[in-house]
Amino acid sequence: MSTQVQNEVLKVLEERHSVKQYQVGHQIPKEVLEQILTATSQAPSAWNLQHWKLLVIDDQAQKEKLLPIAYGQKQIVESSVVIAILGDLEANKNADAVFGPAVDAGFMPQAMKDNLVAQIEGAYQHPQVARDEAIRNASLAAMQLMVAAKSLGYDTCPMGGYDAGKFVEAFNVPSRYVPVMLISLGLAATPARSAGRFSLDQVVVSNSF
Ligand SMILES: Cc1cc2nc3c(=O)[nH]c(=O)nc-3n(C[C@H](O)[C@H](O)[C@H](O)COP(=O)(O)O)c2cc1C
Repeated sequence: MSTQVQNEVLKVLEERHSVKQYQVGHQIPKEVLEQILTATSQAPSAWNLQHWKLLVIDDQAQKEKLLPIAYGQKQIVESSVVIAILGDLEANKNADAVFGPAVDAGFMPQAMKDNLVAQIEGAYQHPQVARDEAIRNASLAAMQLMVAAKSLGYDTCPMGGYDAGKFVEAFNVPSRYVPVMLISLGLAATPARSAGRFSLDQVVVSNSF
């Protein structure tokens, strides 16, 4: 990666902040939204199982329905789109679709796929693993969404402040998926206040505790 590209990425990371006030009524062009969602789905994931489902809520009536579930946070109705990041609790079922094409194309021996699938099925015997993996991997996709949006001039706010049970019920989320977070997406009306961060001294531990 060139230094220039690297610096642009760092700039986007530095400039991303949670925006809560949006230009109401702005419609994100379809191709821009698709670019953001494509970048989201390029996130890394364990075994490449892609443990995410992206529920895109752009219908105003649906956003109004979501508003009380998200405790009245107005970015729900004022942003252009709310994306619910869902984690896949049964991502092991994606294994065939993920590895099958590689075997068919001759990139992966069948025995390697069988070995990977056995490993995955072994891990998914444990519900805690399935849940941890769903949340861990879908969270990486969420971060990727926020960075991609910022790089294209849009802003976001990740939200954990909502009633997940009510959300599942109101939006008919299948039991296969666990809600990870909501993300509002739109054009900022006012820039976000820059929240501070701990210094490296406070967060970095060298080699061992
Ligand atoms: C998992 C998660 C849940 C959050 N939930 C909310 C929320 O419900 N409402 C809100 O306004 N901000 C929420 N935030 C935004 C945080 O308050 C914000 O990221 C943090 O203060 C750092 O500020 P910055 O994002 O502007 O750098 C959440 C952030 C994360 C990562």
